[in-house]
Amino acid sequence: MTGQLSPIDRAKYAAARRAVDFVEDGMCVGLGTGSTAAWMVRCLGELVREDGLRITGVPTSRRTADLARQVGVPLTTLEDVKWLDLTIDGTDEFDADLTLIKGGGGALLQEKIVAAASDQMIVIADKAKEVATLGAFPLPVEVIPFGWQTTRALIEETLAGLDVMGHDAALRMNGDKPFYTDEGNVILDLALRSIGNPRQLSLVLNQIPGVVENGLFIDLCDIVVIGHGDGRVELRDIGAGTVEHDRVDFAEGENLFRDIMD
Ligand code: A5P
Repeated sequence: MTGQLSPIDRAKYAAARRAVDFVEDGMCVGLGTGSTAAWMVRCLGELVREDGLRITGVPTSRRTADLARQVGVPLTTLEDVKWLDLTIDGTDEFDADLTLIKGGGGALLQEKIVAAASDQMIVIADKAKEVATLGAFPLPVEVIPFGWQTTRALIEETLAGLDVMGHDAALRMNGDKPFYTDEGNVILDLALRSIGNPRQLSLVLNQIPGVVENGLFIDLCDIVVIGHGDGRVELRDIGAGTVEHDRVDFAEGENLFRDIMD
């Protein structure tokens, strides 16, 4: 059955499967968004259904909430719990400091709020997400629809004075209409190519009127779990300065793979 999964899906599953080992009974867990995070939600659902794991999840998007309900992960809201034990989420890029670019799936605002409200953030990724310098992936910036063209002009003007290699901000589209986030905002994807100073860029972007939040996650991620298509996983803990190697047994995922393929 695993033979039918692409190597990239196997890598995502491996990272997700290893990351859920950090989830303990009674925890309140932030549930990320995206294809890698979806594997994590499915793994948690299986642990809840088969092993009686007792957790509550706080989803970071409507998509994730729908999937969590489908697989049996009980949900609550950040308004109710206010603080979380752990968040597990995917990423679009990560560097050696575990600074991230997120928001490719359009959920960066809730993802950042939930990550910031968590004792620990674990990022799950395949190896292709690792970069020496952030910025090849266009940086998503969530912007209020009112006057977004003005906000875009201000962003492009500001970028000209910063340590980045490109200045173009493209409105994210959904077919022939703008893409709207769960909060009803639009997203500008900044083609920066290289980000010399993520901390400065993040601060400056968030001061521009109309900008709600940007997709740079700085000092939020504690551990990255990197999955490989052959089941190998690497865990890097930035706080402890440790690197651990492990292996995920794909046989444990057979039921999940069958559900996906059916
Ligand atoms: C969602 O807004 C994003 O931050 C995702 O976490 C990120 O795009 C990674 O998605 P994939 O796991 O699908 O690559």
